[in-house]
Amino acid sequence: MSDAPSAAASEDPSVLEDPTVLEGRTVLVTGADGFIGSHVVERVLAAGARVRAFCLYTSNGTIGWLEESADFTAALDEGRADVVLGDIRDAEHVAASVEGTDTVLHLAALIAIPFSYQAPRSYVETNVIGTLNVLEGVRRHGTPRLVHTSTSEVYGTPDVVPITEGHPLRGQSPYSATKIGADKLCEAYALSFGTPVTTLRPFNTFGPRQSPRAVIPTVLTQLLAGADEVHLGDTTPRRDFTFVADTAEGFLRAAVADLEPGTTIQLGTGRAVSIGEVVELCREVTGSTARIVTDPDRLRPTTSEVQVLLSDPTLADEALGWRPRVSLEDGLSRTADWLRHRVDPTRVRRYHR
Ligand SMILES: NC(=O)c1ccc[n+]([C@@H]2O[C@H](COP(=O)([O-])OP(=O)(O)OC[C@H]3O[C@@H](n4cnc5c(N)ncnc54)[C@H](O)[C@@H]3O)[C@@H](O)[C@H]2O)c1
Repeated sequence: MSDAPSAAASEDPSVLEDPTVLEGRTVLVTGADGFIGSHVVERVLAAGARVRAFCLYTSNGTIGWLEESADFTAALDEGRADVVLGDIRDAEHVAASVEGTDTVLHLAALIAIPFSYQAPRSYVETNVIGTLNVLEGVRRHGTPRLVHTSTSEVYGTPDVVPITEGHPLRGQSPYSATKIGADKLCEAYALSFGTPVTTLRPFNTFGPRQSPRAVIPTVLTQLLAGADEVHLGDTTPRRDFTFVADTAEGFLRAAVADLEPGTTIQLGTGRAVSIGEVVELCREVTGSTARIVTDPDRLRPTTSEVQVLLSDPTLADEALGWRPRVSLEDGLSRTADWLRHRVDPTRVRRYHR
């Protein structure tokens, strides 16, 4: 799989401020109802695209975070968006959803590492078979652009940091293994069929709408609820945190960049902090003095815990003109503002895998 951009890949950042850069394009977003997907939907709508939002079917018919998106509601009213409810594991339905679109941004996945210890088969079916279904849909309909979502977890504990795109992959959790499987299918489709797929590899993303089980919402909700103690797993691992608006910008840029099929690009800031340091920053943002308590239920098996993930952001800059704009401190403060009126004190101590 090529990790090098084509010569024409670099984009003038000013072009991307253009609200018409995606005008005339119809973009299918899978996982549109989720945390990152809902921000991606808003970003591509702002760039002039028509959006088909693929949201997980449930009997109550909700569309996840898009229920709260004024931009998406306006686009629905204007006929610039539609919703497809479905399941990424359903090949025929996925292929039918791809038909008539010219860009597919594939974010649907099961993503929690702790739950992947309990339910690995559902991760294989959703993350590996689901990605196969998207690739087949794109192949069948000759869709000119697919952006697949990987994760920094595919590296496991790295041999060297900062990590570049060519670093070996190591499945340290069932989640990671299934994302490696999905990435390798994209590589295989690019090499075997010339499928125009770009794999974006975000490092830890945070911000409004993130699931309360992720580390930053877990810390912030406990602090905002006025807790004296913050219950966490291991606080020594280090992560490279990217604010969700920056991650969404990366998807927009990958949608318009001229890249070799099979190109992989990381989205990370180049700065890693420990979970303990994140707690300290969250204390500053919320004015809390709560102490950390290690909860044994939240500890991962030692050989599964990834000790450090730190991105070398060079290729994202060269290939996409992408640089993160929001600092960790600013992002934490924006996330706390969003969470402040949403904390349910009866739920903050509950461990959600
Ligand atoms: N959050 C992060 O820090 C991070 C980091 C790197 C990569 N990623 C990747 O980004 C993508 C989005 O993750 P997120 O953080 O927004 O999580 P999320 O759980 O909010 O989003 C996942 C989405 O997938 C959908 N989904 C799950 N199973 C499905 C199925 N069977 N059929 C259809 N849809 C299904 C969910 O409804 C949800 O909308 C994932 O591919 C994830 O692996 C996330």
